[in-house]
Amino acid sequence: MTNSTTAKPRAQFSSKLGFVLAAAGSAVGLGNIWGFPTQTATNGGAAFLLVYLLMVVILGYPLLVAELAIGRYSQANPVKSASAIVPAAFRLPARGLAFVGLLTASAILSFYAILAGWLVGFFASPVFELLGMTATSEWLESTSSTSSSFVTMALFMGATIYIVKNGVSEGIECWSTRLMPLLVVLFLVLIGYILTQDGAKDGLIMYLKPDFSHISGDMIHNAMGQAFFSLSIGACTMMVYGSYLKKDASLPKTAAQVAMIDTGIAFIAGLLILPAMFVAQNNGVAIYDDNGSLLQSGGLVFSVLPAMFGTMGGMGLAVAFVFFALMVIAALTSSISLLEVPVSTVSEEFGLERKKTAWLIGGLITAFSSLIVLNQDPLFDIVVVASTEYAQPILGLLFALLVGWVWRRDKLLNELKQGHPELETGWFWKIWPWYVRVVCPLLMLFVFVKSLL
Ligand code: TRP
Repeated sequence: MTNSTTAKPRAQFSSKLGFVLAAAGSAVGLGNIWGFPTQTATNGGAAFLLVYLLMVVILGYPLLVAELAIGRYSQANPVKSASAIVPAAFRLPARGLAFVGLLTASAILSFYAILAGWLVGFFASPVFELLGMTATSEWLESTSSTSSSFVTMALFMGATIYIVKNGVSEGIECWSTRLMPLLVVLFLVLIGYILTQDGAKDGLIMYLKPDFSHISGDMIHNAMGQAFFSLSIGACTMMVYGSYLKKDASLPKTAAQVAMIDTGIAFIAGLLILPAMFVAQNNGVAIYDDNGSLLQSGGLVFSVLPAMFGTMGGMGLAVAFVFFALMVIAALTSSISLLEVPVSTVSEEFGLERKKTAWLIGGLITAFSSLIVLNQDPLFDIVVVASTEYAQPILGLLFALLVGWVWRRDKLLNELKQGHPELETGWFWKIWPWYVRVVCPLLMLFVFVKSLL
């Protein structure tokens, strides 16, 4: 009997829509709703928006297809997937690469859970305030309090572990398909509200009227980093989701849908956050510091927005609740994709049960997050910079090199043709292979060098 007939069939997403929503759920997160609008506000508004869109098209999308293809080819965890596309001599380095990806995903989750925990605090705070428990409500909103950061982070990690332990279709897919549409509806309601407020127009102008004097090497580097983070590239999350994708889906089309949803939601988030900043300013909340520069992103979401909600009277409590619910939902569909990377790898490689592995790895990451909470300065920034500014783009680059130079072209073509039989004659196959092979690496190198100079 062959291996494939004795082995348990591996889990899959049950439908194409389920996959798209789950992958878009991974991509849409704090990066879109928080990172993108604040980066845009500090980097010249529409000028950043345009550079960002360019980065999504010329780097994000091609690399997203590459990562999804690696995962779907072997339908296995990232460590196996990466080594399956290379000849024997490259197996060990490819496994090592995926292992670094697994560590990167874990590191990203360890700081992501702290940020998301703060959002959980702000989400729960209005409830306690309504109950008259003012002290608890204030404690939940104090991001500088170690105890509240710890409790909210642990709650968020608990929810993440709970979903991941239930597996792909009952856990991840089921929750992503419910939460993603809810997210969009909540968003539209809030935008409708904010645009009726005084001051909103200034925010819209800043967002949509480009000031090209802001374009610089640094800004382009920021836009690239933001695009990688937002599309969840370079930490094996898209690889692992790709491995659960059925062979009848077209990879170029699916990746395009995911990239469009992600970018669309980032754009919509800008329509909410930038006007909200100016509405807050109109209501007497400081959004610029003494030097005239915009408050840091943490400051923006955690002081400006709650302050703005505070000026809305009784309505503000409800709006705050909805807004932070939105943020927590978006963060949760991303954090489950991050935890899935080490959980699927460890449970498959060591033959451990998924439930146990989810608790084990989730517990380890929670422990590491606690360490960051206790040593926020300097640990928090070190982990963010190491994982997102270095590991992610470098891994993204190396995956592109694997796909472009090492993966046998006929096998790659075969993989991409599944779910897209007419691929070979279309424009995608004429451009993408050499683009990933030559242009993506050169472009990334150029951005790196430019930002160093
Ligand atoms: N893309 C998500 C966001 O925008 C976060 C995320 C999920 C991520 N998986 C990732 C970031 C993998 C980098 C790598 O919030």
